[in-house]
Amino acid sequence: MNILVIGGGGREHAIIKKLRENPEVTKLYACPGNGGIAKDAECVAIGATDIPALVDFAVEKGIDFCVVAPDDPLALGCVDAMEEKGIPCFGPNKDAAVIEGSKVFAKNLMQKYGIPTARYEVFSDSVAALAYIRAQNEFPTVIKADGLALGKGVIIAETMAQAEEAVKSIMEDKMFGDSGNRVVVEEFLTGPEVSVLSFTDGRTIVPMVSSMDHKRALDGDKGLNTGGMGTVAPNPYYTADVARQCMETIFLPTVRAMNAEGRTFKGCLYFGLMLTKKGPRVIEYNCRFGDPETQVVLPLLKTDLFTVMRAVHDGRLAEVPVEFAGGAAACVVVASGGYPQAYPKGLPISLGDAESRADVTVYHAGTTLRDGQLVTSGGRVLGVTATGEDLPAALEKAYAAVREVSFDGAFYRRDIGARALAALGK
Ligand code: AMP
Ligand code: GLY
Repeated sequence: MNILVIGGGGREHAIIKKLRENPEVTKLYACPGNGGIAKDAECVAIGATDIPALVDFAVEKGIDFCVVAPDDPLALGCVDAMEEKGIPCFGPNKDAAVIEGSKVFAKNLMQKYGIPTARYEVFSDSVAALAYIRAQNEFPTVIKADGLALGKGVIIAETMAQAEEAVKSIMEDKMFGDSGNRVVVEEFLTGPEVSVLSFTDGRTIVPMVSSMDHKRALDGDKGLNTGGMGTVAPNPYYTADVARQCMETIFLPTVRAMNAEGRTFKGCLYFGLMLTKKGPRVIEYNCRFGDPETQVVLPLLKTDLFTVMRAVHDGRLAEVPVEFAGGAAACVVVASGGYPQAYPKGLPISLGDAESRADVTVYHAGTTLRDGQLVTSGGRVLGVTATGEDLPAALEKAYAAVREVSFDGAFYRRDIGARALAALGK
């Protein structure tokens, strides 16, 4: 089997390592991949959004199955374009990927089908948006650009002045381009956040082990929002009772709602949830595996990933028992100095003995090879993951490995998992 994975971050590295476990997978390509993925797959320098070039490449190499991991190619219709050429894919088609690509679509879907989420209004005019926020006079308030914005399109305004600035920068200055043609203004919710990734073929939905992201750059949830500075799984707030409630009120209704809209979703559907006092609420949907959630979820997956992905594609997910290991996993992201703002690139990386430690995997995100030397090439550079019998054990192993890693300006949060440990009473 010739497999192509589209993307080049830590999430894709985790997917690729898992796919390699299947002996039927004889050849793996990554477009574009990265410096660490190069050890596990053949990296080909085609950008993840260059759909025509990706399709030509897949046809030329006789690709048997393609995994489209990032949001941009999914929103651009990469799956549709591949399948037109007869190449089966894991991932939603363009019509279904809109669940992440448009927050207005997602909110209207939830409203129409009674799926619990924050109260909201949609605006395509900045004056009307501000008039509404002023009349509501409830702060903080949440302002979201409609379209994809590299995970930065959500602004929590504490004051009217901040709301004015947010609406101006999104809708008038177009800081996220056309993604800001419309905004969602929504109620500010509070409670623990949980990420639940799920496999679905449009009929069956199988939630994976839950996880907890750490979005802010600095310890104590301070600093700017990032793509995610670390994760743990499982998320202790996500009890069996909460899981049952989510299945009944959110997961199954979402799958059915997408079917009813003629937008059957196949692939990995990601639920960003907030556990409020009134019950679980959807904060966001993603049409793909989360990053760095995947780096803690897939190491705990016991079932063969390629088997599950093919079953999702074929609409046979109900026939495949999907199992997760007990125990826990923790991922600590090592980032470039300055991230999520400007940071240098091309700095040599030393991994020490991190990769040879028991139960540790170093997933590469922003790395590249320069004359055989591993160097930095992105903001989030590495995701150092460890598994253990419980969360304290996983965290200890992950941090011991992180201390082996070095490059100029490297930084990481020292409190990944701290809140989860507190919730567990540890
Ligand atoms: P997103 O980019 O949609 O993942 O949102 C980024 C973060 O903003 C979320 O992880 C939440 O912490 C926060 N957020 C988004 N919507 C709300 C809301 N309605 N109430 C409170 N926090 C929110
Ligand atoms: N870690 C959040 C995301 O992948 O969107």
